[in-house]
Amino acid sequence: MSRKPVIAGNWKMFKTVPEALAFVRDIRQTIVGLEHVQVVLCPPFTALALMSDALRGSGISLGAQNVFWEDKGAFTGEISPVMLKDAGCSYVIIGHSERRQYFGETDEKVNQKIKAILGHALIPIMCVGETLDEREAGVTEKIVRAQTAAGLDGLAPEQVAQMVIAYEPVWAIGTGRTASDEDAQAVIAYIRDIVREQCGAAAAGNARILYGGSVKPGNTAGLMSKGDIDGALVGGASLKVESFAEIIKKTSEAKR
Ligand code: 13P
Repeated sequence: MSRKPVIAGNWKMFKTVPEALAFVRDIRQTIVGLEHVQVVLCPPFTALALMSDALRGSGISLGAQNVFWEDKGAFTGEISPVMLKDAGCSYVIIGHSERRQYFGETDEKVNQKIKAILGHALIPIMCVGETLDEREAGVTEKIVRAQTAAGLDGLAPEQVAQMVIAYEPVWAIGTGRTASDEDAQAVIAYIRDIVREQCGAAAAGNARILYGGSVKPGNTAGLMSKGDIDGALVGGASLKVESFAEIIKKTSEAKR
């Protein structure tokens, strides 16, 4: 089964609008001709609309880092799926560990958000992953099973087939520690098994499952040599054109 690899940059709370636009101008010139990797940029909300204009015709997609599940209403400070579509998004990161850790995002809320955005033809990038304590306690599989199963609860197999899931071990995020290629492949294959059990073989064969956590140009080729790893969700290294372009290039070579 051939799945188009995805390299998504999660900019977190970095970059003003002028900085975001300068990045787009430079990356457009740097990654010409790498069409078989789907590149997604997920800037802060404030940069979405102008980046959407700047990305037109580039083949690079736009994603948001969070969403609320209602279409509109008295929910001060929240952004709806309708607004994200309006701003030019096609992807939304859901359930990032930083949202789970600092903003009380539960598996139930993750599921509610996924359902809301699929209803607007936005593609979720659902994040799952264990903490260091959980890894050391040997419960990685239990944690990713619970998060994955709850996140996908009640979805149709055809919806899950379009989804992107990102395995991001929390201890590897922003720490410079990466899961070994073998460990990342093993957990991602396990997640694909969960998708198969819950949603069937077609959904499991088509859903893209990424690795995230200290992905850099130097460790990309090894991670991308693994059959179940369909790309990466990149934090720090997505903030610089040189390193992000290098990750895209190495993924393109590995998945050719
Ligand atoms: P780093 O690549 O900075 O470790 O961040 C990973 C991440 O959280 C992407 O969502």
